[in-house]
Amino acid sequence: MAVLEILPGIYSVGVVDWNVRNFHGHTYTTKRGTTYNAYLIIDEKVTLIDTVYGPFAAELMENIRQVIPVEKVDYIIANHVETDHSGALPEIMKLVPKAKIFGTKNCQEGLYRYYYGDWDFGIVKTGDKLKLGKRSLTFIEAPMVHWPDSMFTYCPEEELLMPNDAFGQHLATNERFADQVDPCALWDEAAKYYSNILWPLGAVILKKIEEVLKLNIPIKIIAPSHGVIWRKDPIQIINKYVSWAKNETLAKVVLVYESMWGATEKMARKIIEGVQKEGLSVKLFDITGSDRTEVVKEMLEAKGFIFGSSTHDNGILTTLAGFLEFIKGFKPKNRLAASFGSYGWAGGAVKQIEDIAKEAGLELAATGLQVKYMPDKDDLEKCFEFGRNFALKIKGK
Ligand code: FEO
Repeated sequence: MAVLEILPGIYSVGVVDWNVRNFHGHTYTTKRGTTYNAYLIIDEKVTLIDTVYGPFAAELMENIRQVIPVEKVDYIIANHVETDHSGALPEIMKLVPKAKIFGTKNCQEGLYRYYYGDWDFGIVKTGDKLKLGKRSLTFIEAPMVHWPDSMFTYCPEEELLMPNDAFGQHLATNERFADQVDPCALWDEAAKYYSNILWPLGAVILKKIEEVLKLNIPIKIIAPSHGVIWRKDPIQIINKYVSWAKNETLAKVVLVYESMWGATEKMARKIIEGVQKEGLSVKLFDITGSDRTEVVKEMLEAKGFIFGSSTHDNGILTTLAGFLEFIKGFKPKNRLAASFGSYGWAGGAVKQIEDIAKEAGLELAATGLQVKYMPDKDDLEKCFEFGRNFALKIKGK
């Protein structure tokens, strides 16, 4: 990533990871790559906000050197322990062993447990201020947005909020600002980021956003630690987060299924015909060939989820079972769900899906629909009606 002065004396010095395709140990696919953003403030105290993923430490230091010798760094703000932001810290600290790191108490513990560095660390709390010279920093603890150590850093003189992971996107690009990139890709990645990482934390996020808005601090720029910087109308991404955190939905249904010999698939296709008959937007995924990260993104604003599986060994087919286990942790609120599937001699999958849906906090809109072996004409008519009735429930009828 080219070094860029985003404000007078404040530089973007992070790196682009063009080729990363799996994040978080293969739980998140990053088809557009990502960036690890870090910001350098040149003032009486030279301050680095976050670092980057460890393998990119040399590139980060080269970027800093384009502005100032690394040895001149006085302060490092560690907004978040996770290694994509702290991984380069040990290498930097070798060059600036006297630099002081600031972060939350949880951050101090986390950094120690990751790197065992004997570093000067200043614990900060919400409202604490750090004078840099002409500028200052104010800290806002943000526990569980999305780790216990997470923190936002705000520079009041520049009206600049650096919230680390929050408001970020996994989007590799040399352009540094949201208004310079394809808006479809931008919002697609912002939604994917929220749904796959932050969805279960909606209540905490809402509270944190309310707390920040109540501080009445002007925010001209939001500079997250992944993706591009929001400088034009930055409130738009805050508003979107509020909507997602409130579980606001659209009249949309996502149907996810796994089929053994095609019977459940036939049912799925007929069910969505019924949903479409009522004019709802539909997305259909065979989970065995689908990108789980993308499916979750499509679910973020959908009011209805329908899951289908053939029964195998009295239970759900394994790929769908894994997916359901994954989304169960999201505890999606304000959604309706239903299940369906085919079976041979003894069912089981449909009931198990319903049990998981209830555990996830989903409201079942109908009793699950089962078909023996292959659906005939009458069965397919029932599938159509099943989909249509589900859509009517979504519409509140
Ligand atoms: Fe981008 Fe929670 O790390």
